[in-house]
Amino acid sequence: MSDTHGQVIDGRAGSRSRALFERAQRSIPGGVNSPVRAFSSVGGSPPFIRSARGAQLVTEDGATLIDYVGTWGPALLGHAHPEVVEAVCKAARDGLSFGACAAGEVDFAEQICALVPSLRGGLVRLVNSGTEATMSALRLARGYTGRSKIIKVDGGYHGHADMLLVAAGSGAATLGIPGSAGVPAGAVQDTLLVPFNDLDAATACFHANRDSIAAIIVEPVAGNMGCIPPVPGYLEGLRALCEQHGAVLIFDEVMTGFRVARGGAQERFGVTPDLTCLGKIVGGGMPVGAYGGKRAIMERIAPLGPVYQAGTLSGNPLAVAAGRKTLEIIVRDDPYDALEQATTELVRGLAERALRHGIPFSSHQVGSMFTGFFRAEAVRNYADAKACDLPRFARYHGAMLAAGVYLAPSQFEAGFVSIAHDPATIGRTLAAADGAFAALRHPAE
Ligand SMILES: Cc1ncc(COP(=O)(O)O)c(C=O)c1O
Repeated sequence: MSDTHGQVIDGRAGSRSRALFERAQRSIPGGVNSPVRAFSSVGGSPPFIRSARGAQLVTEDGATLIDYVGTWGPALLGHAHPEVVEAVCKAARDGLSFGACAAGEVDFAEQICALVPSLRGGLVRLVNSGTEATMSALRLARGYTGRSKIIKVDGGYHGHADMLLVAAGSGAATLGIPGSAGVPAGAVQDTLLVPFNDLDAATACFHANRDSIAAIIVEPVAGNMGCIPPVPGYLEGLRALCEQHGAVLIFDEVMTGFRVARGGAQERFGVTPDLTCLGKIVGGGMPVGAYGGKRAIMERIAPLGPVYQAGTLSGNPLAVAAGRKTLEIIVRDDPYDALEQATTELVRGLAERALRHGIPFSSHQVGSMFTGFFRAEAVRNYADAKACDLPRFARYHGAMLAAGVYLAPSQFEAGFVSIAHDPATIGRTLAAADGAFAALRHPAE
């Protein structure tokens, strides 16, 4: 399919993408370097991406697609923002990696600590991914409290560390392997599970495990069972429970950090955790994670304290350059109102069109993060998300891709709007959705 200017917009894998996928499967497990990129739950094979700019992706088949994956969250400023690209190129000319102290790391740490409420007056350590940030923060919480047990929520995803691969969301949920093979029972015996948005369950869990819980880790806005906001009082309740029981409250803001507000969900909802994990946007598209928080806790990390955590490439100058420039632009341009408005227009438009076509549908939006769920009732937790009409989502995904809109290939993922999603782009997305919802009224062929 092509538009009136002759531009190809059918994003389904064409002959070149299919040939590449064939080849990929011969040398890469499943042909993908992260399982969330597989199309197993929606069918078909993935289009291969040649380039990305602004709100658009160009596939190896020559199609131009409107992107709502945003490299799974980092692309708040759109793809290949010229100032970020320039900062990375400049840094590259001065050396790709030092493995030694550099001024940029100090500037970056100061920027991060100034922006995220729980890090103000505290300390931050740079790592290379969200997974590293969460596993390091949990080791630290255990080292700090001298306790072993941790609580996570059902359907929460915090990366692929052994202790966290229990009832995990995102790709683990999509592929039906929320508890991974290869994780020894011992690695997860201290991981306790509670449903998201259920303060009574969290309270009961703390009471049943008195004096043994080191930390609760939670995405303050769930993003890996689709986007689900916290119900009023939930985050405040977790804060109070941690204080009452001497446990560390960890917000995993890998997805929500610099996304749902400049200072993340903790700023938006006014609840300050003890430790915060960051990733995605903080690296501006380069591999960066970070964890930080209260000085008294962070001072337990080596070389100051006995909790060990290290990284050859941590604080890599290219990654730091991308992150610094991204945060600088965020502060300079303050894009959050515009992002929120664009996302509201999109999500309202989707809901209206679904209703008009009689498709059971509900949606959530927090800032520029959103999910449309194929279920009429509101989704409050992972159990609700699992009750969505997944085959219908798969058909919707395929129809949107054919109409030039690239969505995550799973109902259990959030969508992301960037500053490059202008009104015309949103309008084109809604026109595509209208066609997709109309097609869903008819039984699958
Ligand atoms: C909330 C959250 N935490 C942690 C991670 C893991 O981050 P990474 O994939 O960079 O290891 C993710 C990844 O999607 C995430 O969404």
